[in-house]
Amino acid sequence: MPPQSLKPQDQQFVARLLAQMTLDEKIGQMTQPEKNSVKPGDVTRLSLGSVLSGGGGNPDPNTPAAWREMVTAFIEESLQTRLKIPLLYGVDAVHGHNNVVGATIFPHNIGLGAAGDADLVRRIGRATAVEVAATNVRWTFAPAVSVPQDLRWGRTYEGYSQDPAAVSELATALIEGLGGDGWDGPTAVLPSVKHFVADAATTWGSSKRVDRSALTTDRTLAIAQMGQDFVELLDLGAWQIDQGDAEIDEATLRAVHLPPYRAAIEAGALNVMASYSAWQGLKMHAHRSLLTDVLKGELGFPGFVVSDWEGIDQIHPGDYDRCVVEAINAGIDMVMVPFDYERFIASLRRAVQAGEVSEARIDDAVRRILTAKAALGLFRQPHTDPALLDQVGCAAHRATAREAVAKSLVLLRNAGNVLPLDPHAELLVAGADADDLGAQCGGWSISWMGGRGPTTPGTTLLEGLRAEAGPDRVHFSLNGEVDRDYSVGVVVVAEEPYAEGMGDRAELRLSDAQLALIDRVRARCARLVVVLLSGRPLIVTGQLPDWDAFVAAWLPGTEGQGVADALFGRVPFTGRLSFDWPRSQEELRRSQGTSPLFRIGEGLAPGAPLAVRSLSASRPSRGST
Ligand code: GLC
Repeated sequence: MPPQSLKPQDQQFVARLLAQMTLDEKIGQMTQPEKNSVKPGDVTRLSLGSVLSGGGGNPDPNTPAAWREMVTAFIEESLQTRLKIPLLYGVDAVHGHNNVVGATIFPHNIGLGAAGDADLVRRIGRATAVEVAATNVRWTFAPAVSVPQDLRWGRTYEGYSQDPAAVSELATALIEGLGGDGWDGPTAVLPSVKHFVADAATTWGSSKRVDRSALTTDRTLAIAQMGQDFVELLDLGAWQIDQGDAEIDEATLRAVHLPPYRAAIEAGALNVMASYSAWQGLKMHAHRSLLTDVLKGELGFPGFVVSDWEGIDQIHPGDYDRCVVEAINAGIDMVMVPFDYERFIASLRRAVQAGEVSEARIDDAVRRILTAKAALGLFRQPHTDPALLDQVGCAAHRATAREAVAKSLVLLRNAGNVLPLDPHAELLVAGADADDLGAQCGGWSISWMGGRGPTTPGTTLLEGLRAEAGPDRVHFSLNGEVDRDYSVGVVVVAEEPYAEGMGDRAELRLSDAQLALIDRVRARCARLVVVLLSGRPLIVTGQLPDWDAFVAAWLPGTEGQGVADALFGRVPFTGRLSFDWPRSQEELRRSQGTSPLFRIGEGLAPGAPLAVRSLSASRPSRGST
């Protein structure tokens, strides 16, 4: 899709509208509460410009129709305001419309990076946009254009690659897919390019996100905990690196972390989300130089910057009024204030009246917001076509997801060419994770953290294997304790689903229970295949020689039969690592990795000639190991 130059008529319309607005109406447009916090009538009373669903901010029942009904009610409330400015609803559709039961859930970005297929990502963007628009939502907080440097980071899987060029190419493809034939198209969905900037470059141990003495008073962490043993997770490293400080020099920031934003702006992106993290000790939400001088000035970003969830509160904890002034003056245009939105409105009104924030800054912020709404065509048509609901989770989208799953798999070991599997051989499949849709979807799936179990319609890996080989040839064991031998065993092990800092871990390894499961199957099978479902590489150096085959399957989403397609050779293995795979726990930060076990670009293709993908010249050719 060609770069979206903002139409002159939209800009003239916005100028006329802005001239009519009161200060309160302008501040209302800059306010984005979470849907569970908004009191009935407040969208109209306060002229709220946006509402979001946080991860798992679902209606009850959680159905596509109920989602559409919920979002439409908010939009209708906004059309009752004096100036009838339509509300823009935002969600985290980061791998499909992933909060919605019944939606297609695609592989997370780390898998799409391994697939390395920009056209596929564009098609995923388009399918996602249709499913999001079906629920009357026109804004998604995606793509993340993070370039992960430290695999201990719980958001590693939201990154496409450690190669900035690959991130730029795939993010551009997603943005083009979300936009379709143009931002004012009936199913165009506004992307949010995040998190600006260098969110993935923070130093382990530098995060101040969690104060162990305040665990019960932090409303956001209360949502995250959801019954998990939170202190145990903190002891494992949770919230040690996410939202921390990127202690890198400007040359590295510009060379590694800025290019994907330049590419996204070129692709027509009209929203950027600020990062919780800091750069050289200064919080990004207060970083005027980077938010305004670099992003809006040097890069010419014409859209609006949204804060992250309670992101401005971290600038000066305990002095909220100062947070508001510094964030807005730094270049934040809309504030994601999930809970206390009236406190934000009053604080900003007071700051403008006291001259601490200029009317010109307010006008600039509101102009940017309204321009994005005009570009989406919301003033002409604030609602999408309800008939789109028929396409949520449709066969065509699931087929695209199945294709993506197969292309995302990376074959890292294949001793004796045990793969592709013989569909006529008897097969033992072991491990609860082989038959767990929540485990294969990972975080940001139906709930913020995701979670094990049949959380949404889809096909598990086991169901895919049985569909391919026939139920009589595929024997399943939850724990690998069987009373006979098999020629081939496939063990599936998964990371426990997580999101954000809840997934920060000091060590990346399989659990003792998982290793014991693999050992039990090893003892009973002549050939052993291990399939890993994870948001990042784990250290398997010591175990790998004992496995005949090893497949990195990342977090494939709802269409698990894509794994069977590759294991049985219906589709060739073409995936290649988009991250270095470290050899030891001491090399989990890329800069520490002198000799990774596998490098970016490696991946086996049994029987096929070695291929060099033209995706990015900087990527090495396929590895031979
Ligand atoms: C979260 C994440 C951000 C997400 C936002 C809304 O804390 O940092 O990626 O888009 O809040 O859910």
